[in-house]
Formats: sequence, C-alpha cells, structure tokens
Amino acid sequence: MEIKLHPPITNASGPHSVTYEELERIAQSAAGAIVTKSMTHCPRQGNPEPRLRAHLDGELGSLNSMGLPNLGYLEYAKFIPKLKEFGKPVIASIASAPCAHKLPPIEQYYEIATAIERAGADAIELNLSCPNLEDIPIAMDPQSVRAVLTAVTNAVKIPIGVKLAPYNNVPKLFDQIARTLLDFDIAYVATINSEPLTLDIDLKTRTKVIRPNDGFGGLGGPAVLPIALAEVHRFYKFFQKQKARIAVWGVGGIIRAEDAIKHFLAGASVVQIGTLFLWDGPQAFEKLWVGIQRWLQENGFSSVEEIVGQVREI
Ligand code: DHB
Repeated sequence: MEIKLHPPITNASGPHSVTYEELERIAQSAAGAIVTKSMTHCPRQGNPEPRLRAHLDGELGSLNSMGLPNLGYLEYAKFIPKLKEFGKPVIASIASAPCAHKLPPIEQYYEIATAIERAGADAIELNLSCPNLEDIPIAMDPQSVRAVLTAVTNAVKIPIGVKLAPYNNVPKLFDQIARTLLDFDIAYVATINSEPLTLDIDLKTRTKVIRPNDGFGGLGGPAVLPIALAEVHRFYKFFQKQKARIAVWGVGGIIRAEDAIKHFLAGASVVQIGTLFLWDGPQAFEKLWVGIQRWLQENGFSSVEEIVGQVREI
C-alpha cells in the first residue's frame, strides 16, 4: 500500500515530536506529513540529562541518548483525531521498551498498532532500531523482524513503514533483512536511524557530551549522510531487482536542499528531516522544499519523481 506525500518531506521521528503542541507545529508547517516520536506501551521519562548534544563541533551533527521519552500510546491515541484535522497524513511511530508490566515486545507492537489504527492514524512507522535501549535492536535480528511484521501486518490495514538501522558495518545482515521484508505488505522502509554507539567529548570541560550509556549515543546530521545514501541506494536497488513495491524513505544528514537531492537520486521517494529540524524548527521544511524545487527547475526537471533512483554510474 502506497503513501503519497506532498511535499515528499516529513520530520524524522524524534526531535520536537513528543507533545501535542510540538506535533501541531509540524502540522502547521510545510511538512507533507506528521510523524510522532516513537510511542511505547508505557509512558517514559527517558534517560537522565544531559542526553542530547544538538550541535557537535563544526556542525558535524547531533548526538543523543534520549531513551524514548514519550507520553505513552494512549495519550497519542487521543491526539490523533485533532492532528488529522490539519489535512495531512498522521504517521504514528511505534517502539517497544521494557516496562513494569513485562509485556513481550511483539505484543507491545501489536497492542499499540491496533489501538493507534482505531484512533485514526493514517500509517504506522515501526521503529525497530532505537539505538539507546539495552536490548539489541529488533532490526538487527531477521527472526525478530519477521515476528513483529507478522503480528502487525496481520492485525492492521493502514500502511506500515519500517524504520531500520544502518547495516553498513554488519556483513550479510542487509541481505537477510531485505529478504525478510519481501514477505510482507509494507509501504516503505525508512533508513537510516541514528548511527549507534557514537561518542563526543567537550574539550572545554573534558567531559563526554552526554551522560547516559557511558556517553555513547546515536549520531545524526551531516556526519551520517554518506551512510544514509548508501543504505537508501542498497534498498532501492534490491527492491527494484525483486520487483517489490516498497518505497524507500531517506533519513540521515539532510541539512541543505542538495543533500535531499542526493537522497532522491540514490532512490528515496520521501525524505525525513531529523537534526535540521532539531536545529531550525518547523521553518526547515519550507526552506528545504523551496531549495529542492529550485534545484529541480535549474536542472530541467519538473518533479521529484523524475529523479528518484536516477544516480548515474561513472
Ligand atoms: C531514540 C533516539 C534515537 O536516536 C532514535 O533514533 C530513536 C530513539 C531515543 O533514545 O529516544
């Protein structure tokens, strides 16, 4: 099932997407959809602060170990009807996390997905790749990916996207995950989630920049652009070869229109904006879309669709 967005730009789940007020600001912006922070079964405070360094030295990117702070899925279920009044798709990002009730991850995904569909969400983005929980992300284990997708795709009718981790440093896993996805009716793959296990140091204080997880967190922003482009392109080529109708949504390192154009050329049909949205707020979407349209016009194209996947070999 396809999701068409206009413009083909959304926020990436995470920054400024936890509260109703934040989601309303995305609704009022030029973004083509509203993506929520990943919601979990239980509300979560998240990790101790400082847990986010928005600006790494030299604007390399942002580093976080937020620990999935969110209001819990029952609150988001209440917001969704109000958010839908803005007339753009509401995409509910869903994650599993440890909770006092000890519900297994698959059941957490199932219960949240069914409740959120009933609440009127237009699509679900299964976050299988939060880098900041103790457990190994589901996205790193093909059998677990299969189990979540089996439970959720059998239970809901709305389009499902899957947010994946970067696989660039894990030989063979890409193929196993990509093949697993072919067995399910999913609308899109969003790649990449933050680059896990990254560290930065503040030289003024000689401290790590964030506190949780021994200072290790997920990296986003310009530093990850080439990793994101590679992952987008691998999925795009794989799905083309297999004649699978799964779209690729590009996430990672987009702070200028030219970065988004690279994602489109690599195979993304939609781009999601994380660190830039963290830095600049909702005006980022309008600015980016104006820049993308200018690039298209200056280069003789009339739509994003014309350039999707059109990178040339040299
Ligand atoms: C969280 C952080 C991320 O970078 C991410 O991609 C998903 C979740 C978090 O810790 O809340």
